[in-house]
Amino acid sequence: MKKSVLFVDDETNILDGLRRMLITMKSEWDMNFVNSGAAALDFLSKKHVDIIVTDMRMPEMDGVELLTQVQSKFPGVIRIILSGHSDKTMIMKSVKLAHQFLTKPCPAEKIKDTINSAYSMLKILKNEDVKSMVSRIDSLPSLPDTYLKVVEEMNSEDCSVAKVGALISSDVGMSANVLKLVNSSFFGFTNHISSPMQAVGLLGLDVVKGVLLTSHLFHSFKDENTRNFSLEKMMSHSILVARIAKAVALQCKMNRKVVDDCFIAGILHDIGKLIMLANFKVTYNVIIDNSKQENKSLWVSEKDILGVTHSEIGAYLLGLWGMPNSIVEAVALHHTPNLSINEGISPLTAVHLANVFEHRHVVLHENYEEHGLDAEYIARIGLTDSINELETLGKNICDETIS
Ligand SMILES: [Fe+2]
Ligand SMILES: [Fe+2]
Repeated sequence: MKKSVLFVDDETNILDGLRRMLITMKSEWDMNFVNSGAAALDFLSKKHVDIIVTDMRMPEMDGVELLTQVQSKFPGVIRIILSGHSDKTMIMKSVKLAHQFLTKPCPAEKIKDTINSAYSMLKILKNEDVKSMVSRIDSLPSLPDTYLKVVEEMNSEDCSVAKVGALISSDVGMSANVLKLVNSSFFGFTNHISSPMQAVGLLGLDVVKGVLLTSHLFHSFKDENTRNFSLEKMMSHSILVARIAKAVALQCKMNRKVVDDCFIAGILHDIGKLIMLANFKVTYNVIIDNSKQENKSLWVSEKDILGVTHSEIGAYLLGLWGMPNSIVEAVALHHTPNLSINEGISPLTAVHLANVFEHRHVVLHENYEEHGLDAEYIARIGLTDSINELETLGKNICDETIS
């Protein structure tokens, strides 16, 4: 079936430009073009749409208002912003509303890639079981203010390590949580890190965003330890997976940005467990018992008992928060990478491998799932011959950290 994409822009010449630029996609996409928010909502109420791509600055109904309505009335539609310039206030308001951001002028290839990868996310967002479970969750954690401020700062032209460091420092609680996290022995820094600015300098701006989210989530759920589940162990597992994923990415010669995404996806890959644990504590304990007794992967027990897995819930949340698709995909499919429609090595590859290597080489996991490598996927992306070398890399990181 063709993907249905709706483009919204008040400027007719922009719509005409898009139509011309994307003409080669006609066989794969059913493309529609409207010139206002009201027309877009009217279209959505009459026809099925998979993906909406909208401008932000429009008279009467702007992009923020349009996407707010789309989010509540048509939550299954993927929301992409194609915006003229970085209007800080608007971007701040839309962080939670959009799944992806594109900046005009945007090359056709970039639009095609973004829409295609957003489409693979639809599978998660459209899963009725995930949706109904999320609707039973009273308090889906929201993005911390400091995170939004950091994202805004990073989108500005004069962004600097010092400014981002200062922003984090100004939030005393957040700053303490970030320092606690990066000073954990699992992070592998030999010297004590004493300020957020130093942390930003060492980790890089993008990675700091992932670390902010992680420390926020672990802090929000800090009272959720149960007889069966150790938050501390989950945190060390997540950090090690992030480090191994980054090492795998470097070894596979991925570019700098992708290497950072591998780290972020690694550190966040199991966050769905926290959400399940916090909202369905009794059931989650039953799930853990079930996976131990029947010797099956935790995610299989989750699927059997709750109908959804921690990978789907985590990916859904990150999707709602506007994380890049490659990170959402890595989280969603870290146990089942062969379901990905994308070819080639990606954050999904790095996180899948890192998760398995960490499970194999750190014997701490009475409450984590056991699972093996997906040989079919590894063969498909051409990594079979390098797998032993990559595993040694992962094992070395585990050995150095645990010893
Ligand atoms: Fe997992
Ligand atoms: Fe994991």
